[in-house]
Amino acid sequence: MNRLDVIQALMRQKGLKNYLEIGVENGHIFFRIKSSFKVAVDPKFIFDAGRRFGKAILNPYNLNNQYFEKTSDDFFTQDAQQVFAEKKLQLALVDGMHEYHFALRDVENTLNYMGDDGVIIMHDCNPQTVGAAGHFEDWEVGEWNGDVWKTIIHLRSQRPDLNVFVLDCDQGLGIVTRKKPESALAFTPAQIEAMTYDELVKDRKKLLNLKPTDYFYEYFGLRA
Ligand SMILES: C[S@@+](CC[C@H](N)C(=O)[O-])C[C@H]1O[C@@H](n2cnc3c(N)ncnc32)[C@H](O)[C@@H]1O
Repeated sequence: MNRLDVIQALMRQKGLKNYLEIGVENGHIFFRIKSSFKVAVDPKFIFDAGRRFGKAILNPYNLNNQYFEKTSDDFFTQDAQQVFAEKKLQLALVDGMHEYHFALRDVENTLNYMGDDGVIIMHDCNPQTVGAAGHFEDWEVGEWNGDVWKTIIHLRSQRPDLNVFVLDCDQGLGIVTRKKPESALAFTPAQIEAMTYDELVKDRKKLLNLKPTDYFYEYFGLRA
């Protein structure tokens, strides 16, 4: 199971359509989504008008896409109010700058425009090496997930209005819904800031509320 499977299952079986993707890169996921309301945000899209046109032929839903080539912070400050004035968000993939406070702002800003039934999917929540789990400026080679794992711990500690868990697949898919948490943590932002990768390794399952992939179907009442 990967993020595309999760998004498509929620769209097809739950009817959640209005879609935002923060961090789109070459549109590998974005262009495949079948929804007439899709919003793409990235400071540097890795595609040109020709690729957009080709993708619209393959998937005509892409004719209606809205593109914002800017940071998510700028998008939320400058454009979001107008973009979501008439349509509430139902699904969002948060996959932009993979750092604790960036991802946290992305989730919090997204929630401001999301209906009660909405779902946020966060990529890269379960890094498997210390090198993959740190700050961008310390990253050298290989996979980089950043410290989005700290955003998960923050939400589970500070947001009693959200249920948050991480599916154990595709680098860790964080799932955020507006529901009473099934379990909570009690860390302060300062404690989370100071956490090390070793602490994550020692208590990964509990800190991330890590779930097997089948739990996704069970939680949302979907067919596998
Ligand atoms: C891992 S890629 C996204 C991959 C894509 N979501 C997918 O599933 O194929 C991360 C993207 O985040 C973008 N990014 C970096 N900083 C950002 C920011 N502040 N706001 C929005 N996007 C950002 C990068 O330009 C990059 O294209």
